[in-house]
Amino acid sequence: MMSYKICLLPGDGIGPEVIACAKDVLTALPLELDFAESGIGFEEFQRSGSPLPDSTLQAIRHADATLFGAVTTPPAIPNYFSPVVRMRQSLDLYANLRPTRSIPHESSRPNIDILIVRENTEGLYSGIERLEDDGDRAITERVITRKGSERIIRKAFDMARQTNRKSVHVVHKANVLRQTCGLFRSVAFEIAKEYADIELKEMLVDTCAMELVRAPEQFEVVVTTNLFGDILSDEACMFVGGLGVAASGNIGAEAAVFEPVHGSAPPLMGTGKANPVAMFLATAMMLDYLNEVESAQRLRNAVNACILNGESTPDLSGELTTNQVTEKVIEKI
Ligand code: NAI
Ligand code: MG
Repeated sequence: MMSYKICLLPGDGIGPEVIACAKDVLTALPLELDFAESGIGFEEFQRSGSPLPDSTLQAIRHADATLFGAVTTPPAIPNYFSPVVRMRQSLDLYANLRPTRSIPHESSRPNIDILIVRENTEGLYSGIERLEDDGDRAITERVITRKGSERIIRKAFDMARQTNRKSVHVVHKANVLRQTCGLFRSVAFEIAKEYADIELKEMLVDTCAMELVRAPEQFEVVVTTNLFGDILSDEACMFVGGLGVAASGNIGAEAAVFEPVHGSAPPLMGTGKANPVAMFLATAMMLDYLNEVESAQRLRNAVNACILNGESTPDLSGELTTNQVTEKVIEKI
C-alpha cells in the first residue's frame, strides 16, 4: 500500500475543529497516512510573530498533500499579511479548483456538476497597485502571461478528460479587455487543438454570471482568470448547499493544498454548529489528487448518504453537531 505524508494546517476559529474531523475520517479509510501539523494564521502570528512561518511552507513542500482549515484575518496590524495569498504565491499554487455539485438536499438545485478552474496567481490579483495625483487616482495592473494562461487552460482540459467531461468554457471579457483577456482567450483556442475529444466553448463573464443562475446544468468545466473565477465560484456554490459544503483545491507543480471555502466563522467556534462536510469534500479532492479515487468516492458517498438522511448540522436543516456528523460519516465509510 502506498503511504502518504499529509500536512495539516488547522489555523483559527472552526479551522482546528474541522481539521480534527477530517483526520478522523481519513483514519477510517484503508490508507496509510502519516500526519504532521503546522501553524498558520492569527494565533500562529501571536505565537511566533508570523502568520505563515517558513517552517510551515517547508512542511507543505515536503508533504504529498496538505489540508488547510481556515484563518482569521485580524483588524489592521503592522507586519501582518494574508497567509492564504502568501501561501499561494510562495508555492506557486497556480490552479484553484472549485467543484460545484448538486447535493441530495432540498436547498440544492439538481443536475449540477461544474468544475470551475480559476487562475490563482496573476490577473487583477497580481498585487501591482499604486496611487497617483496625491491619492486621487488609484491604479491596479492586470497582468496576464502566456505561460500563466497556458498552464491553467491545460489544467482545465486535463481535468475535463480525467473526469470524462466533454466541454470546457473559457470565460473572459475580450470584447473590452482586448489585450489581457484577448491573450487568455487566444491561448485557450491554441491549447484546445491538443484536445480533440473536448469541445472549447467561450462565454463573456457577464453572460456567464447570468447563465450560471438561469441554466447551470449547461456547464461542465469553466476556466477563467483570477478575479472572474473568484466571483463566479462563490456565485455558483450558493445553488448547491452553500458555504457549509463548498470545497476547493490549490494546485501547483510541487505542492497542493485543499481547503473548505468558508473562513474561520468565529461565532460558530465551540458551538458544534460548524458543518464538517466542506472539509470532508476538500479531503475527497485531496484523495483524488493522490490518485486514491476509491477512497475519495467512498468518502463522498458516505457524506451524501448522511445529507440524504438528514444527518446534518443546522445549516442543512439538521440537528446534529460537528462531531456527530463526523461519527455518522465514519459509520457509513
Ligand atoms: P465565514 O466563511 O467564516 O462565515 C460566513 C458565514 O458562513 C457565517 O454566517 C457562518 O456562520 C457561515 N459558515 C461558515 N462556515 C460554516 C460551516 N462550516 N458550517 C456552517 N456555517 C458556516 O466568513 P466571514 O464571517 O466573512 O469571515 C470570518 C473570518 O474568516 C474573517 O476573519 C475572514 O477574514 C476569515 N476568512 C478566512 C478564509 C480562509 O481561511 N480561507 C476565507 C474567508 C474568510
Ligand atoms: Mg472568494
